[in-house]
Amino acid sequence: KHVVYEKSVSSTQEIAHRLAREKVAEGTIVVADEQVGGKGRLGRAWFSPIGTGIWMSMILKPKIPPQRAPQLTLLAAVAVIRGIHAATGLHCDIKWPNDILLKGKKLVGILTEMQADPDQIHSVIIGIGINVNQKNFPDEIKEIATSLSLEKGEDVNRALVMQSIMAEFEQLYELFLKDGFLPIKQMWEAHATTIGRRITARTVSGAIEGFAKGITEDGVLLLEDDFGTIHKIYSADIDF
Ligand code: BTN
Repeated sequence: KHVVYEKSVSSTQEIAHRLAREKVAEGTIVVADEQVGGKGRLGRAWFSPIGTGIWMSMILKPKIPPQRAPQLTLLAAVAVIRGIHAATGLHCDIKWPNDILLKGKKLVGILTEMQADPDQIHSVIIGIGINVNQKNFPDEIKEIATSLSLEKGEDVNRALVMQSIMAEFEQLYELFLKDGFLPIKQMWEAHATTIGRRITARTVSGAIEGFAKGITEDGVLLLEDDFGTIHKIYSADIDF
């Protein structure tokens, strides 16, 4: 596998986008020690201080329609959870849509972007940010963020964690290309604390309370309210 390593970058996503346009091989990974302009979802910033985390972007070129790209975010979440478990023994869980939490605090963020025409994907760029050895966080996020070392009580080898995530990713990606999304969806649901319990989904049009039944093929959350109506949730903040 081709790995592009950089000391300090604005964002590994930006570099991966450029490499993808230059038609680099599928599976190329960009990883940096520090990002000074790390990007989160919804236009947020992603805190990426030097030497403490895994800041990486992966370039994939799957032959699937663009509407299926979100499935790869879910696949990445499963790979990260399994890889972290293999490397550290820690059990994380997924909070829909794609936060990875350790004891209720955010450990990993995943950002999927793509270069595509309406009917064809050119590249999917999956950005993964993992808090590994931070001992403290900025005030704005210190109540909600955690790192592997804060949980383990010792520093964790970043290269080992990254290797085991990549090994899991490769296996799952092959399974995905061969058997489709269903087996991945089942693994995802098994790791998702959101599924199988009562939650409140705060959407732009109001809060809905109910039982989280699962996700659809597109990663849409299915919420059954107390009248038995199933709501499809496309975007929301979830409270338990
Ligand atoms: C989120 O908002 O939860 C997603 C955060 C994604 C962060 C990663 S770090 C590596 C890659 N490069 C970026 O600029 N962002 C992603």
